[in-house]
Order: sequence, then C-alpha cells, then structure tokens
Amino acid sequence: MQREHWGSRVGFILAAAGSAVGLGNIWKFPYLVGAEGGGVFLVVYVAFLIAIGFCVMIAEIALGRHAQANPFGAFKRVGGKRWSIFGLLAVLTAFTILSFYSIVGGWTIAYVVKTITGGFSGFSGAEFEGRFGELVTSPIEPIVYHAVFMAIGVLIVINGITSGIERAAKIMMPLLFILLALLVVRSLTLDGAMAGVRYFLVPDWSHLDADMVAAALGQAFFSLSLGMGALITYGSYLDEKESIPNAAGWVVSLDLLVAILAGFLILPAVFAFNMDPAAGPGLTFITLPAIFAELPFGIVVQLCFFLLLFVAAITSAISLLQVVVSFVGEEFNVCRQWTTVWVGIAIFLFGVPSSLALGVWGDVTFFDMNIFDLLGYISDTFFLPIGAIATCLVAGWVSYDQFVAEVTNEGERPFAYLTAWKWMCRVIAPLAILWVMYDAVFGA
Ligand code: PHE
Repeated sequence: MQREHWGSRVGFILAAAGSAVGLGNIWKFPYLVGAEGGGVFLVVYVAFLIAIGFCVMIAEIALGRHAQANPFGAFKRVGGKRWSIFGLLAVLTAFTILSFYSIVGGWTIAYVVKTITGGFSGFSGAEFEGRFGELVTSPIEPIVYHAVFMAIGVLIVINGITSGIERAAKIMMPLLFILLALLVVRSLTLDGAMAGVRYFLVPDWSHLDADMVAAALGQAFFSLSLGMGALITYGSYLDEKESIPNAAGWVVSLDLLVAILAGFLILPAVFAFNMDPAAGPGLTFITLPAIFAELPFGIVVQLCFFLLLFVAAITSAISLLQVVVSFVGEEFNVCRQWTTVWVGIAIFLFGVPSSLALGVWGDVTFFDMNIFDLLGYISDTFFLPIGAIATCLVAGWVSYDQFVAEVTNEGERPFAYLTAWKWMCRVIAPLAILWVMYDAVFGA
C-alpha cells in the first residue's frame, strides 16, 4: 500500500509544530523560568534549542523519511536489528508519556468546563488552590476527563494523517496563536507588568549553575518533542521533495516563539499581582486563575487561557498517539482504525494509576516517588535522552552517508551547516545529553 503523505509542506510544519508546542511550552516553561531564576534560564534554553535541538530534530525527521516507517521499523531499517531496540524504546516512551500527559490534558478540559458552567465564579486565591487539590486528588473526576481527552485524540488520529492530524493542526494552530496573542496583550497591559518582563528578559548570571543548565537542555528536548519517536513518525510521512532543515527550522522557531509568548503572558501577570514566580507546577492551575478572577471580564480571559492549554495539549498528544498507532499498525499489519481505538484504550488504562497516585494511591511510592512522578522521572531522565542519543549516533556514525543524502535531498539542496550538524550528532549532542542524565541522577 502507498504510504500516506502530508497534503502540503505547511501541513507538516503545523502538525510538527503542534506536536512541539504543548503543555511543555505554556505550563512548564514559564514555571521553570520562574523557578530557575528568570532571564538566565531563557538565554541558556534558547542556545540549546538552536544549537542542539535543531540538529537532533533534523536527524529524527531524516530518519523517519529515509526509512518510511515507524520508529521501530526505522531504526531496524537503518541500523539493523541491534538498533531496533531503540525504536522500541521510543514507542514505549511515547506510550508512557502520553499516559500521564493525558491526565494533565484532562485537567485543562475540566477547567474549561468549570469556567463555562460558572464553577469558579467568586473564588478567591485560596479557593482555587483548594479546588485544584480536590480535582487532582479525586478518584473519579480526573479519570473521566482523562478518558475524554484520550477519546478526542483517538477521534483525530483515527482519520489518518491528512484528514485527521493535518486537518486538526490546520484548524487548531491558528486558533492557538490568536488566543495566545489576545492573552499576551491583556497581560502586558496590566499595571506593573514590566517587572515581569524584566525578570523574564534580563539575565541575572548569579543563578547560573549545573542544575539549571541541565534543566534547560532537558526542557529543550521535551519541548521539541525529541527522543520519543514523534518526529521520526511525522517525518516518515514527509514528501521527499521537501527540505528537512528548512522544515525543522520552522518548527524550532514556532516552538520558541510560543515559549517566549507564554513567558510574556504568565510572568507579567504574576508580577503585577505580586505572586510568587517560583510557585512551581501550580502556577498555571492555581496562581493564574486567581489572577484572572481579579480582572474585568476575567471569566473570558480564563476561558481563553484554558482553551489555549487544551489546544496545545491535544495537538501534542496526537503525535504521541500516532507513534504507537503507526508502530502497532505497521509491525503487526493490523487495520488503523481498530489499532487507534485499542491503543487509545490501553494508554488510558495505563494512565489511571498515575491519576490515582495523586490522591488515594498517594502512599504507594517507589524510590520516594508516587507513580505519576516516577513515570515522569524515568521517561525524562532515561528513556527520552537515550532515544535522542541513539538517533544522533545512527545519523552521525552508523549511516551517515544515507542521512546526508536525506538531509540534502540527494545533494539537490545543499545544507550550509552540514559539517556543524555532523559533529553535533557525532559527539557534542550525545555528550551533552549524557551529562544531563548524569546530573539528573547524581546531581543535587
Ligand atoms: N513537546 C510537547 C510539549 O512541549 C510534549 C511532547 C513530547 C509531545 C514528545 C510529543 C512528543 O508539551
């Protein structure tokens, strides 16, 4: 059967940017900036995104397009049986990450629903905190929203690449930018917003330390959707005429743009209301709603914000789902529709204990972590970096010539930074990633 292809270059770029732009940009990036000391984190992050992230993204897309297969098939085709284990690991990582990403995705739906039904009107800051705690620790409510989130993902992916994922991205990504622009304008026009802008943009070098640098590189990988097969899979549907470095450049730029806009949305609001920028993960679900509640038409602002989060989350989730669906569909030769449904159900079920871990199963811990944190830790610290290193090594050493042919379209479109890219894949990126793993395990 002819392999499906993206309908257009823009379609691929929007879908890949949809994968990259996610909760990582809007939820995690601003709180990391807040917790890691502001502008200095931004500087290090941007440097990694451009120098390392861009190169690894090119390698992933090229791997997928060259092999015309899911991550497992792709590693097998390019590196032989020995390397296929890394493809399998990528699929496993996508499966695991989606299982808890979808729980947070479910929270965004819960907040949209509660905002619309007036569940938050008249709340004060402390009440938001209480309500968030109630939501995430409840044994049933977040699981229902997790199911709804997965079901929406399945409904998109079941329609295939062009009429499912590409169409969803073409509708949702412009919507995302409109919502984001409106919210940034609102936030920047608050009294006292400039303190937040300054905190975000002006680096204070005294905050520079190893843990912060490691966090910045880890975030760059997560945010670009690297290391779990998402871009290998999306790349496998990319037309052979398209330039990979050019497409990757677009995706990195859009991802960075959204992270910066999210910073301009969240930090000025936090400073204008004298809240703590280092509040951590609760910044989005507790601090911000409390701020919005104080604004005229705060309900509208709040609705836009949680819709934005939902859109960002679902376009990322479908890329993770597609990784697993393409693997099962191709390797076991089963029909896409049923595969999508069953994979969706399996990921949903696997996610349930993570949700319970935040409430009734909170006492069940391994290495001092509940299941939710443990899965996040294992995938962020081991699976994702190992997947990224494997891609770099395959591209830089194992089949370098094939990768060059792919990246330059058989020499038709020379890539100006080919030498830099080669050494990045061969040595620099793998060493940098190894160091981050080391820091995560043995660091403070
Ligand atoms: N990049 C997404 C984010 O920033 C997360 C993600 C990782 C999605 C890997 C797909 C694959 O939230």
